[in-house]
Amino acid sequence: MDKEIVKAIDTVDLSKPVPVSEPDRQYYFLKKLKAFVKEKEEEYGRKLTFHVTTFGCQMNARDSEKLTGILEYAGYVSVEEENADFVIFNTCTVRDNANQKVYGRLGEIKGFKKKNPHMKLALCGCMMQEEGVILKLKESYPFVDLVFGTHNIFKFAELLVNSYEAKGMIVDIWKDTDQIVEDLPTERKYPFKSGINIMFGCNNFCSYCIVPYVRGRERSREPKDIIREIEGLVKDGVVEIMLLGQNVNSYGKNLENPMSFAQLLQEVEKIEGLERIRFMTSHPKDLSEELIQVMKHSKKICRHLHLPLQAGSDRILKAMNRVYSKEQYLALAKHIREEIPDIAITTDLIVGFPGETLEDVEETIEVVKEVQFDNAFTFIYSKRTGTPAAAMENQVPKEIVKEGFDKLLKVVQDTARERVKLYEGQVMEALVEEVNEQDDTLLTGRLSNNTIVHFPGERDLIGKIVKVKLNSCQGFYYMGEII
Ligand code: SAH
Ligand code: SF4
Ligand code: F3S
Repeated sequence: MDKEIVKAIDTVDLSKPVPVSEPDRQYYFLKKLKAFVKEKEEEYGRKLTFHVTTFGCQMNARDSEKLTGILEYAGYVSVEEENADFVIFNTCTVRDNANQKVYGRLGEIKGFKKKNPHMKLALCGCMMQEEGVILKLKESYPFVDLVFGTHNIFKFAELLVNSYEAKGMIVDIWKDTDQIVEDLPTERKYPFKSGINIMFGCNNFCSYCIVPYVRGRERSREPKDIIREIEGLVKDGVVEIMLLGQNVNSYGKNLENPMSFAQLLQEVEKIEGLERIRFMTSHPKDLSEELIQVMKHSKKICRHLHLPLQAGSDRILKAMNRVYSKEQYLALAKHIREEIPDIAITTDLIVGFPGETLEDVEETIEVVKEVQFDNAFTFIYSKRTGTPAAAMENQVPKEIVKEGFDKLLKVVQDTARERVKLYEGQVMEALVEEVNEQDDTLLTGRLSNNTIVHFPGERDLIGKIVKVKLNSCQGFYYMGEII
């Protein structure tokens, strides 16, 4: 946790009025929360425990680190199990099964809550921004104590204090915001790598997607705030960062002094001690030549580009409001591979968008074969209420979707295996991330191109970059040895 921030919170005078401006207001509530937790510790004769459960994407993972930072500052200790004094679900709603998972877990938590009368349960994140969810929670899950959304997560300390002071469910959901609150405590999951938000929200309104509705309008952080945060992280031992945004290619457009994403990358590259830069996600419609050239000449930007295609048929792409054609995507991918031959291109694909036929899926398969994606996440279309696609009449029958999905998945997997095979026998740098989950004599590392390699080694190498020979390709990963 940032020592400067901790110092600022510790010096707050609780006898003074509650500050109005941020982050001072939250510092006030953090201090108050800490005093409250201490009181409870004395009352129970033990530490208070917490558990954060995260659903969804890297943005949510980063938000959960912010929640964790606040809870740890206040004196809660993290536990593995969901049976803790404070449990929070950071939810996702990109596909309906994400919502179903949350409702399923809530049932379980109800049992824990009956046994531990001190337990508090909070819900936050994208699903809370969705219409109808709050009503359902109030009706069917009244034992939830606190609910907030994506726009006011910075208010977590204040909301938690309110929730301890009040009875019943507290709900605070904002429709949108233009605020970005800096300098709140965060606690990283990995000491050596970290996500960094560079922008929030999305303005693209792909017709199937709920993200613009639950994450609000696009807003970019000031470059100086981003750089300062990364410099702090590097001082604290971070060697790899991932710049996060729903569409990083439109970074900086709405800043007072506009700056392109490629320019931001060049600034980040200058940070001494930082070894690797990743970013997520790029929309093909505005991936610039400037970005390709910056990647090509960079020593730190990883050889990986996640470039969601979604579908290969022009008719479907148009209905999806993706604003590029199959040919444009193919030309872009070809150009990127020519400029940066060792780059891995990965993608997201959707099967079953309204009106999609098996012939359309064939076009997606064609693109997969031609681009030779190094990896692809393949999703079944999920109808999200309130999006334009949900109102389209020609929803695809389940059996047709399944047929197309299975066919596409097979091609995606075969292609990915071929791509991994290409580098067998080579020596590459890997960032050692953890001890192998199945075999503790092995370490697991990540190559610049995002592929995983397992190799024998001591755990003190975790967080270091080592040279590894990729001895054998095992499907989607390698077995190797340090050289
Ligand atoms: N901003 C990112 C994607 C965020 S959501 C981008 O545009 O690339 C991650 C992925 O979820 C999307 O790329 C898409 O493939 C998938 N997705 C989004 N909405 C979906 C839906 N309604 N049904 C199925 N998949 C969906
Ligand atoms: Fe959703 Fe499209 Fe925005 Fe990605 S770019 S978050 S798919 S609306
Ligand atoms: Fe899900 Fe929200 Fe991310 S809907 S995918 S957690 S932006």
